[in-house]
Amino acid sequence: MSYENAAAAAEFIRSKYSGELKTAIVLGSGLGAFADELADAVRIPYEDIPGFARSTVEGHAGQLVLGEVGGVSVAVQQGRFHYYEGYDMQQVMLPVRTFGLLGIKNLILTNAAGSLNSDMLPGSLMLIADHLNCLGVNPLRGPNDTRFGPRFPDMTEVYDREFRHIALEEAAAIARERFENGLDDTLTDIINAGVYCALSGPTYETPAEIHMYRLLGADAVGMSTVPEAIAARHQGTRVLGISCITNLAAGLSCETINHEEVMETGARVAEVFKELLRRIIVRIG
Ligand code: HPA
Repeated sequence: MSYENAAAAAEFIRSKYSGELKTAIVLGSGLGAFADELADAVRIPYEDIPGFARSTVEGHAGQLVLGEVGGVSVAVQQGRFHYYEGYDMQQVMLPVRTFGLLGIKNLILTNAAGSLNSDMLPGSLMLIADHLNCLGVNPLRGPNDTRFGPRFPDMTEVYDREFRHIALEEAAAIARERFENGLDDTLTDIINAGVYCALSGPTYETPAEIHMYRLLGADAVGMSTVPEAIAARHQGTRVLGISCITNLAAGLSCETINHEEVMETGARVAEVFKELLRRIIVRIG
């Protein structure tokens, strides 16, 4: 997957949608419903886009949806490509690189994640403050194409400080409004900031592994997001990351972990999650 692949994909998408795309959003497991909110939507199945792989995971629809949110044109990935599916990192990074070549300057990455932090319970959201790449590979390994970015990209602030500030403000406003409207009986935080640790999967972790990742500083674990965040920063795209906490990580409760539970929790937080995304998109527009 070369620069030319991303350029071909971008040209194809351009031929289907002429709006000035500002922000791209990648929707994680169980969080796909946001794509149904777009006005004047154009839907493109991944198999139609040159070079794009297919989504093989349940809960990932496998299409790009282009349209407007609050008057802002956005590209929404309803389903992403994961390393555990067997794709190489070039394929995992291709959509984000394509967004960059489409002139999109902002990227919102979302995912489902298991919590290692007792302040972050299932059904809450985690604002990604920073990440640990425990995938066992760096997605930029290999020859560097300087048309994407430099050989040694800086990773000091992967998740944009201003975007994080906006996300926290909007989450606080939503919490207050829900409380005032009687939708929530306590004024609790909707989102907490934390460190996301990316693992290759596809197994969930053992309790001993979770113990180790906790010692390393992880607040949540998941199987995505970090390759896309690295590809985006390589290109100079600004990144915001939000995890939906779908379960307590292995060994932190008496339960076992399964994909159905992950999907169900995603559906449970869908309303707040969609509202938060909508407000952030309008603010960063
Ligand atoms: N571990 C890894 N990935 C996940 C989890 C988890 O507990 N929950 C959702 N995605």
